[in-house]
Parts: sequence; C-alpha cells; structure tokens
Amino acid sequence: MELPFGAERKMWGRLWSLLFSFLTATAVPGPSLRRPSRELDATPRMTISYEELSGTRHFKGQAQNYSTLLLEEASARLLVGARGALFSLSARDIGDGAHKEIYWEASPEMQSKCHQKGKNNQTECFNHVRFLQRLNATHLYACGTHAFQPLCAAIDAETFTLPSSFEEGKEKCPYDPARGFTGLIIDGGLYTATRYEFRSIPDIRRSHHPHSLRTEEAPMHWLNDAEFVFSVLVRESKASAVGDDDKIYYFFMEREEGSSSFTQSRSNHRVARVARVCKGDLGGKKILQKKWTSFLKARLICHIPQYETLRGVCSLDADTSARTHFYAAFTLTTQWKTLEASAICRYDLAEVQAVFAGPYMEYQDGARRWGRYEGGVPEPRPGSCITDSLRSRGYNSSQDLPSLVLDFVKLHPLMARPVVPTRGRPLLLKRNVRYTHLTGTQVTTPAGPTYDLLFLGTADGWIHKAIVLGSGMHIIEETQVFRKPQPVENLVISLMQHSLYVGGSSEVIQLPLSSCSRYRSCYDCILARDPYCSWDPSTHACVAGTTIANRTALIQDIERGNRGCDSSRNTGPPPPLKTRSVLRGDDVLLPCDQPSNLARALWLLNGSKGLTDGQDGYRVGVDGLLVTDTQPKHSGNYGCYAEENGLRTLLASYHLMVRPATPAPAPQAPATHGAQLAPDMRLLYVLAIAALGGLCLILALSLLYVACLQGGSRGRQRKYSLGRAGRAGGSAVQLQTVSGQCPGEDDDGDDGEGTGGLEGSCLQIIPGEGTPAPPPPPPPPPPAELTNGLVALPSRLRRMNGNSYVLLRQSNNGVPAGPCSFAEELSRILEKRKHTQLVEQLDESSV
Ligand SMILES: *[C@@H]1O[C@H](CO)[C@@H](O)[C@H](O)[C@H]1NC(C)=O
Ligand SMILES: *[C@@H]1O[C@H](CO)[C@@H](O)[C@H](O)[C@H]1NC(C)=O
Ligand SMILES: *[C@@H]1O[C@H](CO)[C@@H](O)[C@H](O)[C@H]1NC(C)=O
Ligand SMILES: *[C@@H]1O[C@H](CO)[C@@H](O)[C@H](O)[C@H]1NC(C)=O
Ligand SMILES: *[C@@H]1O[C@H](CO)[C@@H](O)[C@H](O)[C@H]1NC(C)=O
Ligand SMILES: *[C@@H]1O[C@H](CO)[C@@H](O)[C@H](O)[C@H]1NC(C)=O
Repeated sequence: MELPFGAERKMWGRLWSLLFSFLTATAVPGPSLRRPSRELDATPRMTISYEELSGTRHFKGQAQNYSTLLLEEASARLLVGARGALFSLSARDIGDGAHKEIYWEASPEMQSKCHQKGKNNQTECFNHVRFLQRLNATHLYACGTHAFQPLCAAIDAETFTLPSSFEEGKEKCPYDPARGFTGLIIDGGLYTATRYEFRSIPDIRRSHHPHSLRTEEAPMHWLNDAEFVFSVLVRESKASAVGDDDKIYYFFMEREEGSSSFTQSRSNHRVARVARVCKGDLGGKKILQKKWTSFLKARLICHIPQYETLRGVCSLDADTSARTHFYAAFTLTTQWKTLEASAICRYDLAEVQAVFAGPYMEYQDGARRWGRYEGGVPEPRPGSCITDSLRSRGYNSSQDLPSLVLDFVKLHPLMARPVVPTRGRPLLLKRNVRYTHLTGTQVTTPAGPTYDLLFLGTADGWIHKAIVLGSGMHIIEETQVFRKPQPVENLVISLMQHSLYVGGSSEVIQLPLSSCSRYRSCYDCILARDPYCSWDPSTHACVAGTTIANRTALIQDIERGNRGCDSSRNTGPPPPLKTRSVLRGDDVLLPCDQPSNLARALWLLNGSKGLTDGQDGYRVGVDGLLVTDTQPKHSGNYGCYAEENGLRTLLASYHLMVRPATPAPAPQAPATHGAQLAPDMRLLYVLAIAALGGLCLILALSLLYVACLQGGSRGRQRKYSLGRAGRAGGSAVQLQTVSGQCPGEDDDGDDGEGTGGLEGSCLQIIPGEGTPAPPPPPPPPPPAELTNGLVALPSRLRRMNGNSYVLLRQSNNGVPAGPCSFAEELSRILEKRKHTQLVEQLDESSV
C-alpha cells in the first residue's frame, strides 16, 4: 500500500494542479471564486475505522435501501422507509429488537409487468418507499414507487399497519427509485417535487390542498430535467414586520438551456439551482390558473460552477428566518473520472432573498439564449408573496394579481444574479471524497457561543463530523459506519437522543453525536475542538459539557484548540520506558503511533536533541522512528512526542542500547537449550525465516502495489479495508529489528549490560512489547509466527494510511518528505539484503 503512495501523490499533485490551472482559466462567474483553495482541504483529525467504532447500534430488517428516515422526537420513534417495508424503531435504541414493521411490497404480477416495461427486476421493480411524513395527529403518510405504479397510504402511527385502501401515487411520488425526489407535508398539504410519470417533465406540486398547484410548462418550462435534492419550509411569516408569507425553498440540479456565453457550447450542461414558492400562493385566476404565481429560481454556485453537482443540502435555524442558512455539499466532476473532490458551501437566506429581489433574466428568442432582462418590471413585483402592503392595496391573494404581473411571472422564472456562498468561497474542499448527504445542528458551548456542527456522509460509507469555524471547517473525525462500502443515503440528528441516524442500502446505524471519553488528556480534549466536549479538571475527564452542572470550570477552546489546559496537570501517567538492545550496524524501529492525523511526530534524544529525518541514519515516519545502521552514538533515551497546534505530548519513550557487533555465541542461560542445535543449523533456520519473511513481505507489498494501481487513485476504500487485521491484533506482535549482520563469529559483544537479547537473529519477530532477551529461535519455526509477523504489517500500514494526510501536507509545504513509510523502507532493506547475503547463503545451504 505504501509503495504506490509516492506515485499516487505525485500523480495527484499533477492532476490537481492541472485541474486547477484548467478550471481557473475557464471559470467565469463569481468575484473570488477562482482562487484555487488548496488550503481548504482539511484533514480529519481522527480516523475511526469500523472495527474501532463504539457505542453504535444497528438495525437491519428483511429489506434493503433504508433511504427514507423520519424522526419523531416527541414519541422517540425513528420511522424508516425501505425497499418493500416500513419500520418504526425506538429512537433510543434502534437495535433493541422491539420494532414494528409493515411489509409493503409490489405483487409479483406488478413486478413482472414492470419487468416487461423494460425495467430492471433486480433493482427497480420493487416498492421503494420514497415519501414518509407526519400527516396529522394520528396518521403518517407514505408513498412508494410500487414497481413503477406509485401508491400512497395514510398509516395509523399507533397500530403501524397499512390501511385497507391506498391512494393513487402518480401525482406525489416518482416512478423511478433512483430519481431525485423531495417532499414535505405542510398544514396537511403535500409539497412534492420530482419527475412524476414516465418521461414526464419535472414539477413542483402541491396536492391534498384546496388549491392544488404545479409549475408552468408553456410557453416555457420552468424546470428542465430537474433532479431534486432538498426542500425546506422557512417560516418567514413568523415575527415578520411586513406580514410576509412562509416560503418553501427547493434545491436541485437542472439542465441549463441556452444560457450565457460560456456554457453555450455545452447543450447538456447542468447547473445547481435554488427555487422558492410562497405557502399562501393560490395560483392565478385566469392566467396561471392552478399554477404557482410565486415561483422564482436562481443559480446556486459554490466553487467551480461548471463542474459541480449538488448532492445534499441542510438548513439550520429555519425557525428564525433572519438567521436561517443552508449548507450544501457538491461533488466536482470533470472528464477525468479518477478525480474526486467535494466542496461544502454555506448560503445565507438573506443572500437568497436578495437574489430573488434582484433583476430577472429573459429568454431572447432571436439569440436563443438567456440574457439579463433590462425592461420595466410591473407592480406588484412579480413572484413576490402577498404581504401587508399588497393587502392594503387590495391584493388579498395571488388570485387578485393583475394579468400583467402574471404574464411577466410566466416568462421570467429565472433571476439574473447567482446565489453565491457566504464569503464568496467554499468552507471546505476535499479531495478523494464524494459527499452524498449532509445534515447539521447548532451546538451551544458551555462558554456561550454557538457553533454549526455538520455531519457529512460519503459515497463509501464514512461520516465526517465537522465544525464550522469562521471561513473554514475543522473535521473533528472521520468514521467508517458501514463495513461494506455503500453510499450514505440519509442522515438525521436527534438532539434528545444525542444520536445520529445513518441510512444506507444495507442497514440503519445509530451513532452518538459525540464520544468525549475518547479523549484521554486535557490536550487531546481541547485539540479535538468538538463543541460537545470539554475537559473537566475536577474529574480529569473529557465530558459532554451539557451533562455537567457546574459549567464554569470546564475547559474548551473551539476557536484555537490549544488554550486552557494546565500543562503540569495535563500529563497523565507517563508512558512506560521500553528498552531496545541492538547490535551495531542493525536497523531498529521504535514504533510510535500518532493518534491524531494533524499531529507531527517529534523525536528527542536524551531529552533535548531533536532528530531530523534523513540525518545521522534517522528516518522519522508517521508510525515510528527507524534508526538505520546503528552506531554507539545512537544509544540513549528516545522520546516520541506528538506536536499539534503548538502543544506537545509524550507518546512513547525508549532506551536504546547499541552494542558492538559480532556478539558471543550466547554463553548466557537462555542460550543453553538453543545450543542443542548445531550453530549452522540455527543459522540456517534463522536465515530461512528471514528470507521467507522478506519474500512474503515483498510479495505482499507488490500485490498491494498492483492492487493499488488497479484501484487507481480511488484507493481509499482499499486502504481502509486493509485495516481488517485490526490494531489490537497487530500490536501484540511487532517487527522489532531488521538486522544487517548475521552473527557468524564467536565474539562476545557484551558491553556490560547486554543480556544477549538478539544474538543469532537477522529478523526477529518479538511478541509483545518490553525488555529484550527473547528466547533463541525454537528449532522448527512454526509458520504461524511468520504469518503473525506479516499480519502485523498491514495494521501499521493502515495507520500510516490514516496518517497519509500529514505527509501530503508536508509535501505541499515544500518540506522534503523523505521516505514516508517504513514499509517502504523495510521492503527496500529486505530487498537489498536478499540480493546480498541472505539469498546467497540460502542457495549454498539448500544444495
Ligand atoms: C428477473 O427476470 C428474469 C428474466 O425474466 C428472471 O429470470 C429472474 O428470475 C427475475 N428475477 C427476479 C428477482 O424476479
Ligand atoms: C388523519 O388523517 C386520516 C387520513 O386522512 C384520517 O382518517 C384521520 O381521521 C385524520 N385524523 C385526524 C385527527 O384528523
Ligand atoms: C380584500 O379583503 C378586504 C377585507 O377583507 C375586502 O374589503 C376587499 O374587498 C378584498 N379585496 C378584493 C380585491 O377581494
Ligand atoms: C438499493 O440497494 C442496492 C444495494 O443493496 C443498491 O445497489 C441500489 O442502488 C439501491 N437502490 C436505491 C434506489 O438506492
Ligand atoms: C463552579 O466552579 C467554579 C470554579 O471551579 C467555582 O468557583 C464555583 O464555586 C463552582 N460553582 C458551583 C455552584 O459549584
Ligand atoms: C545520550 O545519553 C547516553 C547515556 O544515557 C549517552 O551514552 C549518549 O552518548 C547520549 N547521546 C547524545 C547524543 O547525547
């Protein structure tokens, strides 16, 4: 895995700079949108793989595609719409086994009819539940695709059973389970947006309402091939000084028809949009009868408008419209299919409102394209909601609006100005990641300020938990929530249960919103910058601030992440001092895992001398220190520190003894039973082990390399799946010394304290940590030991992969990165040895 890393990085660097030079050359709109924002590529501080997850709960019924989630906080139920089934789970513990279930599948006849229509009977010809909302105090409302014959049903929430009769669903639900869809029930009315029947054009509809409405199709389509992503009600009537109406905002992608100059060549170009309608809209009387009179849409841009696809949106603070804002996740797509990147942008409702209050576009028939409308705008302003001032002028509802205004609305659904993100640029750009969904919440910290906390789901089943800090984002952790890579299809937060629910194709997962106990020291607790977590000095624990009565004493530093801890009290028990004894000329690895991906490893010799990578035979890697060709001057006490954000923590300490080479034939006690074997035989075994180990390692690494090459630069899933060996299993056995010298002569190299620990070994696999002096190699080497040793390596590799971000960052800073991994280093050494001593001698002896 590590071998390709350098290559991958190089290729990435090239592609990325290519992409940016190309994109920045062609990018047009947006004042500050052009800047390549490499510095926004935040690294998740912690990486938590599936095996390391704790406190999660799972729900998996006899169904797939758990993509529709509805949380009811008051009754503590999580309602789930899946393929062919609905579930009512306890939000406290979705895995408690006491769920209710509705089986709701299309009949075999329906399915075969669907198949005959040319649909896929493995994926499409089922009843995918797409819509699930609360209808009234007693009932839920659900719609399913029902093998391309959508059906809806009002479901009694208490008994959780299907009614005896269903409603026709073709006006409310998509036919195609993969089609973008969004729906809300507001005051009993259904507000749904999708493409409904076969091949029909997309539409935003209101049904179950005295005034059913839809979008206009003639003379122009208000929506072109739209794929809906999200909709939200913003209560703008609440506390409105002008008697404003509530509005529903829609976020979607659509085809841009004959737009401004730079996209003219691309007829199929798709753009992100935000649209809105007024809740009180009743349609027009003669013109725009049964159509929205308040529909307006605008371009939504984030970073590189031509290349971004909207994937997910969430809204925060939608109850107080003055502070309402949205977060949107985009993927950046280019013709290079290997290139994956995502961007997160924030939009303020005030900006969206300003765009809808700005100039309109018009379709210029002659030029067959959209251009800014420069003519006069009729009164009352087209597309606006009915407010007090309109009512005072006699416009009691949209049906009272003059024809002139409605005619204008019909032809001018698009605004001229695009909606740009807050501060004009993304909060986050992330390479190698495809976000599929996001949700967020606001967290008030013990000290008072409130922060936005986002949970971003990826296409391969990871969740990034990120806090928004000013103009950027800090990713607190990345968590692998699904063992089998699968897109995160839905995310819901419960503040009452302090839980995040994740819907995927195979199951639903419940995770705690925070796990503060993961942070063991005050430094760790504040470096995490998790708004839920603070250090409690009285109990010496990182705690969820909300659960503590006396909050004044809690330590937290969200803004900078390094202030407040008392350095003398921070340090818990120091890590135990481990001793390593090696022969002069050997290579020794002093392992030291950095728990944080943002930390830099710092090694001090004898408490003061900082070790530099590549000097004096030292190689500083992300998983330890490799001392090559050890000399007596290398003896001393080594301390491994994590340096992060200006704070330094001791992680491990070693006492290294380098003894003169050519050691004795082990006169000590442990060697006596080893002496039963002829020295040649011992040597032979050792060499065989070493050579086999080396070969296996090289083989394994080459296989990984090939696998990686095949995986291209999208190797992240593979990287992580490597980690199956698990850290716990891996750390029990460690590869300690790689020796360059095979002792042949009987020269006692005792330097006074050596206990003959490593005599007779070229490559030693030592179970456990601790003092030297393992027993001499047992006569026939059990193959299991070799296997163990090699199993240990992938666990190292995984950690290095977790930390590979650090290396990327180093190389960007122009710091000579040196060999980044010891797997690379080790394989090179083993390769060298194989060609020199080991193989030769093996050949000799095997004759
Ligand atoms: C799908 O259709 C094919 C061809 O008609 C049939 O062989 C297969 O059994 C069907 N699969 C399912 C799951 O219905
Ligand atoms: C809720 O809606 C269902 C279905 O339309 C209806 O049968 C029921 O009476 C309604 N309940 C209330 C309390 O309005
Ligand atoms: C609007 O409502 C007011 C009072 O409710 C009424 O006097 C007026 O005639 C209405 N105007 C129209 C155009 O219906
Ligand atoms: C349903 O899940 C399967 C995998 O189990 C996946 O291939 C398919 O794309 C999913 N369908 C939808 C509509 O999400
Ligand atoms: C809370 O902690 C602060 C600082 O330790 C202390 O001064 C204060 O008395 C405590 N308040 C209560 C109610 O315990
Ligand atoms: C470190 O200390 C050891 C004794 O503990 C000494 O032998 C060695 O020379 C020292 N190394 C350096 C570089 O100061």
